[in-house]
Amino acid sequence: MTGSEKKSQIEENQQVIENMARIKHTIVVMSGKGGVGKSTVAVSLALTLADEGHKVGIMDVDIHGPDVAKLLGVEDARLQSTGEMIIPVPVNKNLTAMSMAFLLEDRDTPIVWRGPLKMGAIKQFLGEVAWGDLDYLVIDLPPGTGDEPLSVAQLLPDGAWAVIVTTPQDLALLDSRKAVRFAQQLKMNVAGVVENMAGLECPHCGEMIDLFKRGGGEAAAKEMGVNFLGRVPIDPHMVIMSDLGQPYVVDEPDEPAPKAFHEISKNLEKMIGAS
Ligand SMILES: Nc1ncnc2c1ncn2[C@@H]1O[C@H](COP(=O)(O)OP(=O)(O)O)[C@@H](O)[C@H]1O
Ligand SMILES: [Mg+2]
Repeated sequence: MTGSEKKSQIEENQQVIENMARIKHTIVVMSGKGGVGKSTVAVSLALTLADEGHKVGIMDVDIHGPDVAKLLGVEDARLQSTGEMIIPVPVNKNLTAMSMAFLLEDRDTPIVWRGPLKMGAIKQFLGEVAWGDLDYLVIDLPPGTGDEPLSVAQLLPDGAWAVIVTTPQDLALLDSRKAVRFAQQLKMNVAGVVENMAGLECPHCGEMIDLFKRGGGEAAAKEMGVNFLGRVPIDPHMVIMSDLGQPYVVDEPDEPAPKAFHEISKNLEKMIGAS
């Protein structure tokens, strides 16, 4: 039994509260379903905020798809600890990361833990990782509005900001409405909706090709009375750079998707700052 398992529930909760009190703002990235670019948005926002000089942590609690470490090019990192605290993996001078991926023997083995074990691990991410003083903690939540995102969201500190990622086709939008309601029911601050994979610029003629339609995210946000944070086009370089674990969003700030992410992060900062 590890030291943490011996701790009482009250001690554990106290530790989460104390650790989270050192974090100014929590941003929870959610989606109605998987594959819409949730992890990409979480990683791009974390990199952008860190690049602007903020102290940022990114916490990957998408247990069954812990992709953040790979997207950041740190999937081979091994965790270290000081005393009772786990040290998050440094990505650059302003960004540290914690992911279930760091606890796995290899990437191809699925996690078959039952609920309580998973929740215990997530509680440790919140209470026993030495995040230090952060301006922003960005959290990549499991997709959907089922049991798992619900249990995770309930562990989060009050006042977290929810960013809902969707793609523009009706099926995704329908699910994203659920995600907005879910965040509202959990008393999170809804920062707004990001429409991802919104069109592709033809490399030959420059015209936009709307593969999954376009503008649905904005319309859905308006209809639900929440903010629209911005639209990210499909950017083929994004896929290549993500697969390589390269920080595309800060390395190539003038490219289509990075440009969009800088706008979105500005909108987000403005909103959080004004609250
Ligand atoms: N705007 C975009 N342009 C191009 N590829 C994207 C974009 N957003 C996401 N992707 C790619 O789509 C795939 C799924 O994205 P991911 O962030 O892993 O989704 P999720 O976390 O919602 O499952 C990844 O390969 C990612 O690189
Ligand atoms: Mg993901």
